Amino acid sequence: MAKFVIQQKSPQELTQENVSTLTEWTTDEGWGPHQRPFDISHMYSGPPYMDAKAFLGFLDYKMIGHAAFFTSGKGGISTDVMEYITMFIVEKPFRGKGYGLKIWNTMWETMDKNANICLDAAPNMVTKYESMGLKPEWDNREYIIPLSAIAEKYKMTENIRDVSTKLLSEVEFEKFAEYDAKIYGLCQLVFIKRWSTLPNSFTWVAVNGNGDVVGYITIRESINKQDTTVGPLYADNLEIAKKLIYTASQTMSSQTSSVKNLRMFIPTGGSNAIQMIESDFGIKCGPNFVRMYSKKHKVDLNKVIAINSPGYG
Ligand SMILES: CC(C)(COP(=O)(O)OP(=O)(O)OC[C@H]1O[C@@H](n2cnc3c(N)ncnc32)[C@H](O)[C@@H]1OP(=O)(O)O)[C@@H](O)C(=O)NCCC(=O)NCCS
Repeated sequence: MAKFVIQQKSPQELTQENVSTLTEWTTDEGWGPHQRPFDISHMYSGPPYMDAKAFLGFLDYKMIGHAAFFTSGKGGISTDVMEYITMFIVEKPFRGKGYGLKIWNTMWETMDKNANICLDAAPNMVTKYESMGLKPEWDNREYIIPLSAIAEKYKMTENIRDVSTKLLSEVEFEKFAEYDAKIYGLCQLVFIKRWSTLPNSFTWVAVNGNGDVVGYITIRESINKQDTTVGPLYADNLEIAKKLIYTASQTMSSQTSSVKNLRMFIPTGGSNAIQMIESDFGIKCGPNFVRMYSKKHKVDLNKVIAINSPGYG
């Protein structure tokens, strides 16, 4: 009889082969095919390592499934802790045979039920996760916008003089991290340090006349090289958001000719960013992944113009 074993691993213990296999499955699944695999290696390579635990299912020593969660919030200004589940997946030929649920249950047993447990659910999984006590909070919509259109539409934001955009290296990191924690509702220091210092990743911070942080945008390279992915974009209002989008796209255009588009995942239920993007660029998008939490999360959704990306908070 085939032997099924589940192993728990830290990011440091995962092999390159484990990461490549996972990358293949998620690409095959169509989860942001050009962007997600890049994020997987970022999550599992380091330092600084994410506080993550991966659960791998092996059938007769062959890896056939994966689920993971990472912990955010420890050691910051907020006392809330979030455990974020990501990349729950079983290789296609082995689905529907009970392996996925076994991996999930093993992971679930190790999770801290006092933490806020969170994930981005594929629409067909929402009712299943509800049975685990998670509740849907919002949908994420994915938009891919040509840089040329942004240059044209948002050029006028150059005239906004009371807010300037600075590279992250030019602002006090503590102020930036404080702003991030205020909007997101908990400290995600390791995560933002990791995201904002990736190769070909840039962070611009919007600062007002008093030197207060009033927004920021991080963009990172996508594997297809044509898109740059926004994650996150937080801003006190939509004008500041436009200015940050414009700054980011101008820099990408001047740095490289291969990047053509800006990709962003906008949450429903908060600001009017979806209406703004759809009317400014004449594009429409249907629901993508559904954000679910075990507890009410104190995120300031009006200022979350774009999330990190589905699967990463
Ligand atoms: C979702 C997935 C990982 C489940 O793995 P699997 O091995 O196919 O699932 P199982 O055979 O163990 O499922 C057994 C039963 O438990 C349910 N189940 C599985 N995981 C579950 C979970 N985390 N919570 C609640 N129910 C779950 C299944 O839906 C199934 O119920 P059913 O018999 O009523 O249909 C797998 O189908 C997959 O890789 N799907 C594509 C990727 C994906 O959508 N991942 C989830 C992203 S949010």
